[in-house]
Amino acid sequence: MTKPHVEFNPVAQEYFDNPYEIYKRMRDEAPIYYDEREDFYALTRHADVAAAFKDHESFSSARGCDLGMVRSGDVPQKSIIFMDPPDHRHMRSLLNKAFTPRAIQAQRETVIELIRHYLGKADPEHFDVVQDFSGPFPVEVITRMAGVPEDFRQQVRLWIDTSLHREPGQIDWSEENQKANVDSGMYYYGLVQERRQNPQDDMISRLIAAEIPGPDGELRKLDDIEITGFTTLLGGAGAETVTKLVGSAMVEFARHPEQWQLLLDDRSRIPDAVEELLRYVGPVQYNVRYSVREVELPSGTIPANKPVFLMGAAANRDPRAFDDAETFDVTRDRLQAQNLGLGYGIHSCLGAALARMETVLALEHLLDFMPRYEVDFDGLQRVNMQNVAGYHHVPVKVLK
Ligand code: HEM
Repeated sequence: MTKPHVEFNPVAQEYFDNPYEIYKRMRDEAPIYYDEREDFYALTRHADVAAAFKDHESFSSARGCDLGMVRSGDVPQKSIIFMDPPDHRHMRSLLNKAFTPRAIQAQRETVIELIRHYLGKADPEHFDVVQDFSGPFPVEVITRMAGVPEDFRQQVRLWIDTSLHREPGQIDWSEENQKANVDSGMYYYGLVQERRQNPQDDMISRLIAAEIPGPDGELRKLDDIEITGFTTLLGGAGAETVTKLVGSAMVEFARHPEQWQLLLDDRSRIPDAVEELLRYVGPVQYNVRYSVREVELPSGTIPANKPVFLMGAAANRDPRAFDDAETFDVTRDRLQAQNLGLGYGIHSCLGAALARMETVLALEHLLDFMPRYEVDFDGLQRVNMQNVAGYHHVPVKVLK
């Protein structure tokens, strides 16, 4: 009997529940996956995904990063992640200045303070890793850096959650998704106006003062829409992802207690553990691009003018690239292949150093807070979202 044709539906409940089964079949049976009904391609083998990430001239970001956006070509805001060179290059070199290793190190004490604050309030008998900890702290870090006043920092997270949520079967934006996006855009727009009047020591004020080369080579200032677009993106990219990585980490360590024990025995392994988490349960599942011309990849040809899913999470478990790719192993040889968990090529994660620092510090503190713990597996609740995967609820009990 022949197996049924593998089907990848980015908004199917089955996919939200367990993406990795589907990835394996796609890698083995349909490395250049084509979906006739929705007219898109998807890449899952490491060699193909890495090549496509590198080839930004063929795979454009300018139409957006999820299927609904790329199909309509209607990006919700002007934002670095939706730009191709040369605009991307100018924006990136400007923003790099806000994310230098020094600037990130300067956030270290703030991150520790916030982690301690949330763990200090936590009840070890009824602790939800995401709701009580990994949800609230990263958004606080990034919105503080941006300059969002305290009262609105958690609201930013709620807007992002609503704007990314998808009902099973829903590809295009719902009214609720749109509204959350508009509300957060309006909020940031107002804040930019406010900072124009009263500059402070924050990222929004620095972006207002910055200059980048315009189309004619002359230096120009960023407009309100550009600054709003970037700060909106930061709220999402810089919070949502760390939230999910830390939540998934605690589920994976509960499934593999010997790996948690390795960290308890030797804290110097934590940075490697973060890399392995990014590979094994990295929150970003895919980024969608648009093929502006026909492209040859190691596994075949992609025609011009199609949405193409670059599925980094699938590639990160490709046995053609990693030994025992489906095994969670914090001691693995990290040089074997490029880890795609933070992207690759010109759009690779701008906040990578901050993401790593936050996750390392979170794990260090969780090792102290819950050296032995159990997860209530029945109480786990996954998110149903575009682009990212992870948990909304990770209930645990700290053991004595
Ligand atoms: C575990 C946490 C994180 C993960 C897994 C992650 C992952 C990624 C990935 C896969 C991309 C590439 C997108 C693409 O190719 O289209 C990306 C881009 C980006 N990330 Fe992150 N990220 C994380 C944390 C952060 C943080 C903390 C920040 C902000 C401070 C941030 C800001 C950005 C920005 C601005 C981009 C767009 C860069 C560009 O287009 O040049 N990310 N991230």
